[in-house]
Order: sequence, then structure tokens, then C-alpha cells
Amino acid sequence: MSALHIRVILANVDAQKTFYLETFGCQMNVHDSEKVVGTLLQEGYTQVETVEEAGLVLYNTCSIRDKAEQKVFNRLADYKKYKAQGKTFGVLGCVAQQEGEKIFERAPYVSLVCGSASYRNLPQMLVQIQAGKQRVTGLDDRETDECFETEFTARTNPHRGYITIIEGCDKFCAYCVVPFTRGKERSRTSDSVLEEARQMADLGYTEIQLLGQNVNSYKDSAGDRLRKKSFAELLAAVGEIPGIRRVRFTTSHPRDFGRDIVEAIEAVPTLCDHVHLPVQSGSNRVLDAMQRLYTREQYLERMAWMKAAKREISITTDVIVGFPGETETEFGETLSLLDEVGYDAVFSFKYSPRPNTPSLKLEDAIPDEEKARRLEVLMAKQRAIQTTNYKKYIGTMHEVMVEGKNEARGQWIGRTSQNKTLNFTAPADALPKTGSYVPVMTTSSFPNSLLGEMVV
Ligand code: 5AD
Ligand code: SF4
Repeated sequence: MSALHIRVILANVDAQKTFYLETFGCQMNVHDSEKVVGTLLQEGYTQVETVEEAGLVLYNTCSIRDKAEQKVFNRLADYKKYKAQGKTFGVLGCVAQQEGEKIFERAPYVSLVCGSASYRNLPQMLVQIQAGKQRVTGLDDRETDECFETEFTARTNPHRGYITIIEGCDKFCAYCVVPFTRGKERSRTSDSVLEEARQMADLGYTEIQLLGQNVNSYKDSAGDRLRKKSFAELLAAVGEIPGIRRVRFTTSHPRDFGRDIVEAIEAVPTLCDHVHLPVQSGSNRVLDAMQRLYTREQYLERMAWMKAAKREISITTDVIVGFPGETETEFGETLSLLDEVGYDAVFSFKYSPRPNTPSLKLEDAIPDEEKARRLEVLMAKQRAIQTTNYKKYIGTMHEVMVEGKNEARGQWIGRTSQNKTLNFTAPADALPKTGSYVPVMTTSSFPNSLLGEMVV
């Protein structure tokens, strides 16, 4: 075979087996995409940066709020023109699982529709696509006990990486689409998680973030009873791996959040002193309607455990305003909870009715303008709380992981163990490297970040 002949064959293969992947949504989706990319590379595909260059165009979608599915259809409609060029389209993730085969009806040029519970079958699905099959689906695995485990994760950051420890969710909060899109709750074995964490440490990763919809309900499926680990034990074991300097976890559910997690944070210095514990509402009536399985008082008990810890633990949360029937008084109870806890960050959302969820049938929808007003009020209150919280760090020292440099401001971007942004200046000859850890003295504060000077 001549060199020219080989080049022509390679060019054909390359044109066909290039892919572009765009990701929407949460950290779980971001990490799923890292695993999907790894799988595609392993199958001989090459990743490209634009739709134009790609043979296979994939969207990893989110359906947690708003009209996410509409956005996906709009985006697909924009790309209809590329079909004539022979490109293949695939929809992955939560909208894929939620809308299923309806996607083929509305966007007939889509060839692959696959929910996250089916990703471990992607290699077979890719073979079918390569063979020219028009409608390939991965939608029937929501009852699986298997997780998407792969040794080919294409992590984008060389210092800090995610590890999924639990997939799916069995909680069925009234507003939430996740149990329908991600399927039944299933945990990986602690042996497998620890093996992945050790491999990452060997590759030079120093920070690991354990991921799951509800990491606190982690149940080690290890066969050997004596080696089974609770979530807190797994957390501590990851933190004890040589080379690992920081361990984070997200997201937690108050009902399953045990005191042993606080004890682990106290005992193992590498476990970051930050807990994200979504409360959603400060009203017991609303919490009950949301089927959250805890009361305001039980939630505050968990806050008290953390506030009594030997290390100061930073606490952040998620809140939904305008759940159906939420009265002004009930909204006021959420505001008073913010005062009582004094969070370091609150991610707040207007309630959004989602397909299949129990709260879809609830009456007394709150008008959008009222939801928007409540959101504004809540955000203004939280801003004031954070302004006070952040001030108290002025004059204190923190070790930060260097995340990069803001050239325009001449500042390096740092992150503290508490997950706060602490930007800093450094002496001209210091040149802190991205991914390294440096000591910083805090000199001023803002509602969302701190500013300081590197100490040499
Ligand atoms: N409407 C508004 N916010 C929602 N969240 C989840 N489902 C909905 C919904 N239907 C929020 C919750 C959750 C976060 C990830 O998204 O606050 O903790
Ligand atoms: Fe969005 Fe939830 Fe799916 Fe994450 S799990 S992508 S937040 S719907």
C-alpha cells in the first residue's frame, strides 16, 4: 500500500470518527462527560473543538429547571443544516432520558438518545452508529444496579478531579426530576473508589471531589462484610491516601447526613472544612410538601453539630423559592433560617415545575413575578450575611490552591479549603504555579470573595 493510499484511508477514518461534545448542567454531568470523552477516545474517536469539524455531535443535557428540553430542541434545530453534511447527532443525559424517543420525532436527524444510566453501553452503541443505524437508544437501564465505571476518564484538570461514588437517587423530592432521569440509587464499591483515588494520586492529583446526587446515602456494595465502609469511613480513607491534600464531597441530603461526617472532618485534616447541605425551605409545611423527610429543627440540629466542630466548617446551601402554595409567612421562615445559620453561600432558585414530578399536580402555583420578587429579597439578605461573614477573615492566613491568574488585575486566583475564592498578589519573583498550594494573608473582603497577599 502506498503512503498516499494510507493517508487517504486515515483521512476518511478521521473525518468519520471526530466528535464534538457540549455539556450542560451539574458537576455530575461535567464528570459524566469526562467519562464519555474517555470512552470515545478509547473507541478511536478524536475530540474536536467545533461542530463544523465534527462527524459526531453530542449534547450532554440537563433538565433540572426551566424549559431545558426546549433549549435542547432549539439548539438541535439550529444544527439541522449540518445533517446534509453527513454529521451524526446524539443527545445524552437528563433530557435524553426524560424525552426518550420523542426526540427522534421532533429532531429526525438525531441518531442517538442515551440517558446516563446507559453510558456503560456506549461502546456497543457507537458501533451501531458507525454501521449507519439511524435510531440508537440507551433508555432502559434506570433500574440497573451497575455504575458507569471506566478506566478511561478524560479529566480536564490535572490537579483536581471528580470521582463518582453513587449514582441515581431514591429520595423522590416532590419537585425533582433526578430520580426519573438518573434512575435507581446504586453505589460503587469502596475498593473501586479507593483504587481510582490512588491512581489519581499517582498521576499527581492532590484534590479529589466525591460526587453523587446524595453521597450520604452511600452503601458500600463490597462483598466482604468486614471491609464495607460507611460514607464517613470512605471519606476518611480517601483523605488518608498519600499525596491527597484536599477531599470534598457533594451533594448531601440532610436526612442522611450523620454526625460521623463531622467527626471525620475533625479527625482528618485533608477533608475540607466545607459542607454543602441543601435545605430548600425554612418552613416545616413546605418541607413536608416537598417530601424532604426532615424538619427545620432537625436541619438546625445538623448545623449545631457543625458549629460545635473543632475546626470551623463553612456551610453552604440550596434554596427553592415559590414552591406551590408557599405563603409570605413561609417564605419569611426561609429568610429567618438564613439569618439563623449564616451561610457562606446560598444557591437560590425559583421553583420550576418539572415533567413526571409529584409537585407538578399541586395547585396554588406562585406567579412568576412573585417568585422573582422572593428570589431578589432572598439574594439581598444573603448578600448582607456574606458581607459580614467574609469580613471576619481579614487578617487571617489561609493555604490556597492556585487556580490560575487574572492577568487584567495582576492577581492570582486561589481557593481555600473552605471553598472560598481568595485572590492574591505575589512578589514579582514568586510566580506561584497553577495547582500548587501557597500561604496567603487576607487583606480585604467582598460578599463573594477575599483578597490577600502571598506570604513568602
Ligand atoms: N425547581 C427549582 N429548583 C430546583 N432544584 C431542583 N429541582 C428544582 C425545581 N424543580 C434545585 C434544588 C437542588 C438544586 C440542585 O436545584 O435547590 O438542590
Ligand atoms: Fe441536571 Fe439533575 Fe441531571 Fe444534573 S442530575 S444534569 S442537575 S437534571
